[in-house]
Amino acid sequence: MKSAIIGLGVIANLHVDAIKDAGGQIVAVCDIDVDKAKAFVLKHNLSARIYEDYKILIDSEVLDVVHVCTPHYLHADMSVYALEKNVNVLCEKPICIDRLDFKRILLAEKNSKAQLGVCFQNRYKNTNKFVCDLIKNQTKVSAVAIVAWNRGESYYASGEWRGKKATEGGAALINQAIHTLDLMLSFCGLPVKVQAIEDNFHLQGVIDVEDVITFKIETEKGGFIMTATTASVSDMPVLIQIRTPDYKIVMDGNDVYVNGEKVLIEQDDGYAIKPCYGLGHYPLVQDFYDCITQSKKYALDASEGIKVIDAVLSIYESAEKNKNL
Ligand SMILES: NC(=O)c1ccc[n+]([C@@H]2O[C@H](COP(=O)([O-])OP(=O)(O)OC[C@H]3O[C@@H](n4cnc5c(N)ncnc54)[C@H](O)[C@@H]3O)[C@@H](O)[C@H]2O)c1
Repeated sequence: MKSAIIGLGVIANLHVDAIKDAGGQIVAVCDIDVDKAKAFVLKHNLSARIYEDYKILIDSEVLDVVHVCTPHYLHADMSVYALEKNVNVLCEKPICIDRLDFKRILLAEKNSKAQLGVCFQNRYKNTNKFVCDLIKNQTKVSAVAIVAWNRGESYYASGEWRGKKATEGGAALINQAIHTLDLMLSFCGLPVKVQAIEDNFHLQGVIDVEDVITFKIETEKGGFIMTATTASVSDMPVLIQIRTPDYKIVMDGNDVYVNGEKVLIEQDDGYAIKPCYGLGHYPLVQDFYDCITQSKKYALDASEGIKVIDAVLSIYESAEKNKNL
């Protein structure tokens, strides 16, 4: 597999390792900051050509897959461009930040010989797969989730795009808590009603978006309440409680309790770079590459990516409406 990476910031480091692990060869990289790209290539000991413009990279290289690891507002354009050139694209979450992009992403995917994959690596976590399997046939599900992490001024200063509606699309929910929202949707089903409130507790004047948001999502099976914040005093493990007719489940980070008993998930999920990233990028990239080489449909496709961002945007719209009441 001949691979390229666009956007050589924090998460691109994990993509390099996951690509190498999957047997891929990184032949080209791209960043608008050329010095950063040169340092990245040196750090990872890559023999990759360096580009400043992703379109020139895609047009010039013979590629099997391009990894999009850029700021949120660029994902739709970059993914669509790659699909139009029949290059498989693995895009970091979220697939886009605007409903207006849904149609053109789906169309580009449909008309392309290539595939689109969206990076929700926590779907590959053993603990999450265990709970999903356990409750998939339960007729009623109610749940509550808390994502309480800390992201301060220095985090937002680390990227011009962070903490701005126009470029990040939001903050605590669309960036940090989106993986847990994805999980809650797989437990409880798709939203039929959404109510939300949001605030900025500790970064007024620093970010123009939320650092705390609480929402209720009602679904056909029941629903859930969730709070996501980056104003926590420190980073806490994600806490989830679930009730179904047969099960009382608590997920405390990687620990899972079912009907009061701790369940031993065979392998500790562990993590690379940061605990919140987990190790899911490795099996995700392997799975995506396997689907490409074996001409199988990759499950985490455009419609799956859009399903999650559709819920995110509904939550923000409700929060905005409630602000104006
Ligand atoms: N799946 C996860 O758990 C996870 C974790 C962290 C980040 N992410 C996602 O990865 C993406 C990047 O996040 P990050 O923390 O690495 O950001 P970052 O700011 O560290 O890196 C982004 C890089 O993109 C480059 N860039 C900006 N505009 C560009 C352009 N037009 N062409 C090429 N390069 C460009 C920047 O120079 C920068 O090097 C985001 O979508 C983020 O949500 C996902």
